[in-house]
Formats: sequence, C-alpha cells, structure tokens
Amino acid sequence: MDLPENPLSNMSTQANRLQIVFATNNAHKVEEIQAAIGPDLDVISLKQAGIDIDIPEPHDTLEANATEKSTTIHRLTGANCFSEDTGMEITALGGEPGVKSARYAGEDRSFQNNVDKVLQKLKGKPDRSARFRTVISLIWEGKEYLFQGICSGRILEAPAGDGGFGYDPIFVPDGDTRSFAQMTLEEKNKYSHRRKAADQLVEFLKTAQ
Ligand code: IMP
Repeated sequence: MDLPENPLSNMSTQANRLQIVFATNNAHKVEEIQAAIGPDLDVISLKQAGIDIDIPEPHDTLEANATEKSTTIHRLTGANCFSEDTGMEITALGGEPGVKSARYAGEDRSFQNNVDKVLQKLKGKPDRSARFRTVISLIWEGKEYLFQGICSGRILEAPAGDGGFGYDPIFVPDGDTRSFAQMTLEEKNKYSHRRKAADQLVEFLKTAQ
C-alpha cells in the first residue's frame, strides 16, 4: 500500500477550498457525492489523496462495512473522512443481494453478470419491489457518525439505458417510469439513496465546521 508523504491533515485546504477524503475509488460515487455536496467542499478519492489500498468489505451489514472503510482510512491518515456502502435490497429475494451487491455473481462478478443474476432469480416472480440503501460512515474529529439514505422502486424485466453503473439499468425509482440508467446524474440525484444520505452528511458538516 502506498501512502502520501504528507498524510492529510484533519481537514485540509488547497487554494482556499476545503477537502474531505471519500474512502472509495469509484469515480461515479465521487461524482454523485460531489454533486450533492456542492462547490464548498472538495470530495477527494483515495487515489487523489495518494492512497493505494483496496479496503476489504468482510462484514454482513452495510453499516459494519462502511465503518470498516472509514476507520481504516482514518487510522492511516488521521484525516476527517467518510465512506459509504450501498446495497440493492429486493423484496422477493428476501433482501438479496443486499450487502453482497458488488459480488452477487461470485468470482465472475461484473455489473453485467450481477444484473443478469438478479433478472434470472426474479423470473416469474410478480413482486418486483426493491430499494437501494446507502449507509455513510463519517469520521469527524475522531468520532463516528452514521447516515442512511433509501430509494424505493422496482426492478424491470430487462435492462434499459446505458448511463450510470451497477444495477442502474434495471432499477426504476418510485415516482418515475425511467430506469436510473436512462437519467442524467442530476435526474438520478432527485431520487438517489446516495444523495439522501449525502444530504444528511452535508447538514452535519454545515453545523460541525
Ligand atoms: P458498494 O459495495 O457500496 O460499492 O456497492 C455495491 C454494489 O451495489 C456496486 O458494485 C453496484 O453494483 C451497486 N450499486 C451501488 N450503488 C449503486 C447505484 O447508485 N446504482 C446502481 N448500482 C449501485
């Protein structure tokens, strides 16, 4: 693992902009959270912070995995930081894939294989209801705070759209007829689980600074 020569200070500034480390290397997630947080705070990925690490997600809840990621980065850098863990919870599958969303198709995992597995398992099941749930773990001044965002909707019979990532092509949020993959990021963010959790994070940060 490579660490930056100068581990980040608790809350660093560059060119007068406040920065916070987001314990992820998923560029889509950084973009979504940055859009939610707005221009006052720069969200930087692990890569941008000079941290080369693949943090394991060994636990069986989103909360425990989010905590694992944020505390790992906090231990390494001493910086205020946050992580998030998201799962797609499908009613007819008893909440699966849930915490296993990233690796639902096993070793052979890819967004496409995960989507195919969900569609296969839902074949013939009338209940298509599902939800995305995001948990954010923030380490602020050495203390942990958890935030949650939920987006309810349904699973399509077949993928639609080519935007977004992960399960976006098969998920339609309540209140719309298009899949997340058929929306712009701005449109997705009107409904997004991650956006809802990020909004709470932003509220907290506003009062904490
Ligand atoms: P993670 O463990 O939080 O990275 O997310 C687990 C998996 O859930 C990812 O690999 C994606 O397949 C899926 N996922 C997370 N967030 C979203 C989203 O906003 N849209 C679609 N799929 C998502």
